[in-house]
Parts: sequence; C-alpha cells; structure tokens
Amino acid sequence: MNAAIRGVVRAAIGRGATVVGFQHGYEGIIQNETLMLSSKSVGGIITDGGTILRTARSREFMERQGRERAIQVLRDNGCQGMVVIGGDGSLTGALKLHEEFDYPVMGVPGSIDNDISGTDYSIGFDTAVNAALDAVDRVRDTAYSHERVFVIEVMGRRNGFIALEVALAGGAEAVLIPEVPYSLLEICDQLRESADKGKKSSIIVVAEGAAKAGDIKEFIQKNTGFEARNLVLGHMQRGGSPTAFDRVLALRLGAFAANRLLSGYRGEMTGVDGNKLVSHPLGYVLSTERAIDPEKLLLTEVMAQ
Ligand code: F6P
Repeated sequence: MNAAIRGVVRAAIGRGATVVGFQHGYEGIIQNETLMLSSKSVGGIITDGGTILRTARSREFMERQGRERAIQVLRDNGCQGMVVIGGDGSLTGALKLHEEFDYPVMGVPGSIDNDISGTDYSIGFDTAVNAALDAVDRVRDTAYSHERVFVIEVMGRRNGFIALEVALAGGAEAVLIPEVPYSLLEICDQLRESADKGKKSSIIVVAEGAAKAGDIKEFIQKNTGFEARNLVLGHMQRGGSPTAFDRVLALRLGAFAANRLLSGYRGEMTGVDGNKLVSHPLGYVLSTERAIDPEKLLLTEVMAQ
C-alpha cells in the first residue's frame, strides 16, 4: 500500500498537482482526517508494510447520506479527483462516488486475496504468498523429521488464489480451495498411498474459505491414524516488508492511476495484463469474477504424485 501511495504522490506532483491523503479510508474522509502528501512525506516508506494512511471500515459511508458528506468534504478540501487503493469494498465505494456524484475516481487493486478482476495481480498478494511460503518451508522440517501430516490454513477470504500459489511453490501434497469440490476420503487414500511408497510426511494447504485446518486435521487423524497437526497462519500474511515484485507493481499501478486521473480518465481501475499496464471500468471490474487458473490447479495434482 505504501509503495502505491508513493507512486500516486510522486507521479501526481510530477504533473504539477497537489496531493492530500485521507486517513482511515472513507471514514476518514467523512471525518475530514487529511494529511498533506508531499514528495518528501512519502520518502522511505517503500520498505514498510501496511499503510501510512491507516485504514478503517465505515458504516456511515454505506449510506447515501454518508457518501454525500464525503463528497462535500472532498470538495471543501479542493480535491478534484481521488485515487482509491484497496479491495472489493474500497473499489465499490469508489464506483458509487463515480456513479452517484460523477466524482472523478481511479481505483488501484490492493488485496492479498488477488480476487480482483481486471488485473493479473493485486498489490500485497506476492508478499502474502511469500510470507505463507516461508512458514510452509519451516513447517516442512518438522513434518519430515517427525513424519507428520501438517494442515496449514492460509487467508484468501472466499477465494483460493493464495492457497493455490503457496501449495505449488511449497510443494504441498494437496490443496483445498473453495472454488473446487474436494473429497477428504480421497485425500486420506492419497496420504495412505504415499505412506506405502515411503513418503511419511505431507503438507496440505487449505484456504480459509474452503475449510478449517483444525477440522481437516481431525478428519485425517481419525481416518488414517497418522499423526497430524494444524496451523492457521492468519494475519502474519498481511504484514512485513513487501517483496520487490509488490513494490514495483504498486509503484506502477499507483503512478498510472494518478496519470490517468490527471489526463481526464475516471471511473476506472488500473491493473496489469502480463507485464502491460491496463485500465478497466470499475463497473466491469466489480461485476466480473476472477477465476482460478485450471492449469495451475492441475499442476498441483500432477506434482503431488
Ligand atoms: O481481504 C484480505 C483479508 O486478509 C482476507 O484474506 C481475510 O479473510 C480478511 O482480510 C481478514 O480480515 P480482518 O483483518 O478484518 O479479520
């Protein structure tokens, strides 16, 4: 998020604009929590996780009256347009301001879940995947030495993008994601077959939207008799210094959003298609489901043999 803020601020200032940040998301706009953002104020933040602007959920903004108040505050501050960095909720709010008040907005996809359409990657995904992968790699040492099955739960809300990536990169024996039905009995059979072939330890990655790691562990232990453990990675996936990939992605998406806004485009979200910068209407982005890559899914199965 910080790298995206830096991208927006420096690109906009480079075009002669003045940039003001609002703290605590839409709630901060309603409460007029402004922060002047100079080129210097965004120096040194690229290495930091989280966001210097903080964030919050706003009940008031969900109501039309709250949004009217937000628009008034934006206008009172002389803001002629706004870049919104965030996931589904933030982008939906941006679309509302665009549709209801014809206010110039540009969205930037920021979510570890990578569930936003219109971009191959959203900011934070790569860092979250690498944080989870580090945990999986560490756990594998115990899994191997103690010959145990480990069930590791990763974030992702209703989607399995983090789980799939972590499973592939971590060499997991199985992955459970909400997008695809799974059979725990089949997984147990697979674990028994592996054990017969001499493979005594396994890692199963489960997306939080698919099941609870604790329940899967219990089932496996009961049905196979193998010693199993579970681990919920939780919010450690959302913090820490961002990866180079995320920093560059955030800078590019942020700067591109600022540039497009200053060039008169509005109601869009920036993204990447391959390595190319793109921008799509927010309406399209929010009404389209991002699908799991079937090739990657198949690969987890082939690799687990
Ligand atoms: O959307 C990002 C995310 O980290 C999800 O993966 C997770 O389900 C959720 O946010 C956690 O939200 P909270 O911090 O409010 O518990």
